[in-house]
Amino acid sequence: MNLPSHLGVRDGHLTIGGLDCLPLAERFGTPLYVTDQDRIVTQFRRYREALTSRYPRVQVLYAAKANGNLAILKALAGEGAGADVFSSGELHLALTAGMPPEKLLFNGSSKSQRDLRLAVEKDITVSVDSLDELHQLDLAARSMGKTAKIAFRVNPALDIPTHPKIATGLATSKFGIAHHLIPGAYKEALRCTHIQPVGLHCHIGSQILDLEPFRKAAGVMMRIAADLVAMGIELEFIDLGGGLGIPYRHGTEVAPTPDEYASVVVPVVNSGVEALGITPELWIEPGRTLVADSTILLSRVNSVKKAHKNFVNVDAGFNLLIRPAMYDSYHEVVSAQNMDHIPEETYTITGPICETGDILASDRCLPLLKAGDLIAILDTGAYGFAMSSQYNSRPRCAEVLIHEGVPALMRRAETIDDITATMRAPPWQS
Ligand code: LLP
Repeated sequence: MNLPSHLGVRDGHLTIGGLDCLPLAERFGTPLYVTDQDRIVTQFRRYREALTSRYPRVQVLYAAKANGNLAILKALAGEGAGADVFSSGELHLALTAGMPPEKLLFNGSSKSQRDLRLAVEKDITVSVDSLDELHQLDLAARSMGKTAKIAFRVNPALDIPTHPKIATGLATSKFGIAHHLIPGAYKEALRCTHIQPVGLHCHIGSQILDLEPFRKAAGVMMRIAADLVAMGIELEFIDLGGGLGIPYRHGTEVAPTPDEYASVVVPVVNSGVEALGITPELWIEPGRTLVADSTILLSRVNSVKKAHKNFVNVDAGFNLLIRPAMYDSYHEVVSAQNMDHIPEETYTITGPICETGDILASDRCLPLLKAGDLIAILDTGAYGFAMSSQYNSRPRCAEVLIHEGVPALMRRAETIDDITATMRAPPWQS
């Protein structure tokens, strides 16, 4: 199996950021998410270099939903990243991490009045998803004596080769406004008294391994940009969203690099803006490609059972990593303490949740496993902890961050008290 450069093997043990996973699991307990901060920074720089070497004005907005830990946002803020935020909570985290308001875009297809007012108050550009939302935002800005900067979210109506639950640029998706209606939407925005259209936004989906849809989406965006320039709109940015995939299947799956992505997309942008005589900033919103492979989920084997299949019951389940249950996603699993042993047995890795679908990995050929062994589930930095829950009243696990060989908690494990903390006794029970 191919391991990325921040993972390795020493004395038969898996290492991350140069550290042996066994003492990490001993010290911090399992289940445990472990992230290598330096890997995230490396990936961020790769993106930025790929784009800035081809286009003069670039902003990389980290999609905060992929992994919202403040320590990760801070590490990226330190590199100059902005963020795509999809809720007031993500907005709060991005600002707390030190990201400047002008590098944030407030996305979302269902924003509340509170969200809209917060965006106006904090001077955050809003990606508007409907004309209804536009008018609500105009009213909110008027009542606050301010002008809201906006982009519209374009639905380019393309075929997006990914899992249907994470394709967002399909004609049938709930996101955005159909591309042919976008010029009309900007005309409507120009009629609003407290709205200033400054950008154009799209995001076509996630875990996309083919560059062609990105090229097509960029083409749609540049055609719309021409209409907007003709209307007299001064475009400060064109945001092509995120969505590039990673090779979850090590050794067999291939994903385009940020450089390959940029080499396909930026020429479309360059020829468009040159023809129009404008130089808006080029924004992108990667999430998964920045953080996914930085992180492993360490989990301890509770028991092994030979039944219909060889089940390995571990202490992490879909409460901590829902991607396999939700999207049939594939994550590599390794025996973290016996990396040098020959795979001898086919195992299905199951979690502790009371659901048949609580399967983290099916039919994997691994070295022999027994109770107490440590396994690692790879590439869990994106949409892993971020989508975790307390289902079955299981406190969520800790997250550890490693920087230059030093591990530290970036989130403590929850306790049962955290689960009961928000519960209240109704008066008739107290
Ligand atoms: N921008 C917007 C507006 C988005 O909605 C998303 C992701 C991104 C950027 C970042 O996309 P990325 O580069 O990470 O592909 N939970 C799913 C993925 C959902 C993606 C939601 N939106 C999963 O685990 O695969």
